[in-house]
Amino acid sequence: MENELSGLSATFDREIDVANTLKELDSIRIKFLGRKGLLSVFYEKFGKLSKEERPKIGQILNSMKNKIEEKITRKVEALSETIPSISIDYTMPGYKIPAGKYHLISQTIKRVKDIFQGLNFDIADGPEIETDYYNFESLNFPEHHPARDMQDTFHVDGKHVLRTHTSPVQIRTMEKRTPPLNIISIGKCYRNDPLDASHLPVFQQVEGLMISEEVNFGDLKGVLKIFFSEFFQKETNIRLNPSYFPFTEPSAEVSVTCPICTNGCPLCKKSGWIEIFGAGMVDPNVFKKVNYDAEKWTGFAFGGGIERLTLIKHSINDIRLLYENDVRFLNQF
Ligand code: PHE
Repeated sequence: MENELSGLSATFDREIDVANTLKELDSIRIKFLGRKGLLSVFYEKFGKLSKEERPKIGQILNSMKNKIEEKITRKVEALSETIPSISIDYTMPGYKIPAGKYHLISQTIKRVKDIFQGLNFDIADGPEIETDYYNFESLNFPEHHPARDMQDTFHVDGKHVLRTHTSPVQIRTMEKRTPPLNIISIGKCYRNDPLDASHLPVFQQVEGLMISEEVNFGDLKGVLKIFFSEFFQKETNIRLNPSYFPFTEPSAEVSVTCPICTNGCPLCKKSGWIEIFGAGMVDPNVFKKVNYDAEKWTGFAFGGGIERLTLIKHSINDIRLLYENDVRFLNQF
């Protein structure tokens, strides 16, 4: 009987060693200590033993029972510590973590920069508070010239204005660099316009300037066609209508084929064309201001509103929506 008991003890040790769930421990407890368990068989046999055998076997039986109980309890405690008190259902769908995204205007700026950088244009920059010289005079707007009235200016003091367009960056860049050069500049501009569905007193422009010994009007049209086709992600045609800017000669109003419709919609006022940019060949008077040889260098420039690009691309009919920052609106893009 002693041998059988030590065999049972070894079996228990093996089983408890590999058990690692509460359920397994419970069935081990039932298997060894249960009313009809393995140990109970020995208690029955114990009853039939002689008086001499009883004390020794009784002691072995009791210490084995204690050992089994103790080992199971210890392992249950150890396992309970590692099991979280709440049960997790790993098959449940997870929580959605709200993620931020670029504002619609930032998305446009990023896209415009990407496209022009792909066309080998550098990014240039300039201040928002400009001198009268950079905003007007260097760009061939003489003092008291009526062209200054084209742009309702916020004056800071007698000499400084909030820039009304990004064209001063053309001058600042030409002063710093020698041609040939290709640059774009994007930034805030200010005009004393009443706020309505298509005007903001603060808005953003993209300005482009390309100068080399042989660029011409056809190159201007080509660059713009590639840009607008990429930006609207749709083959886009360009139309150049005669216009006037003091710093370009000839000057043009750039229209694009409506990116939304094929046969007339409210956005293009049923014409199929949308006016979008100003453009032209750099006026020789501008080259003179920055000491470039106007006989040697030619250049084109273009500029237009970042907000307008955004409104057209996404068919939005009110510019104010872009800056109200209502997340229900912004989340759609
Ligand atoms: N600066 C002009 C405007 O704000 C746009 C423009 C830029 C026109 C470059 C021609 C060339 O209206």
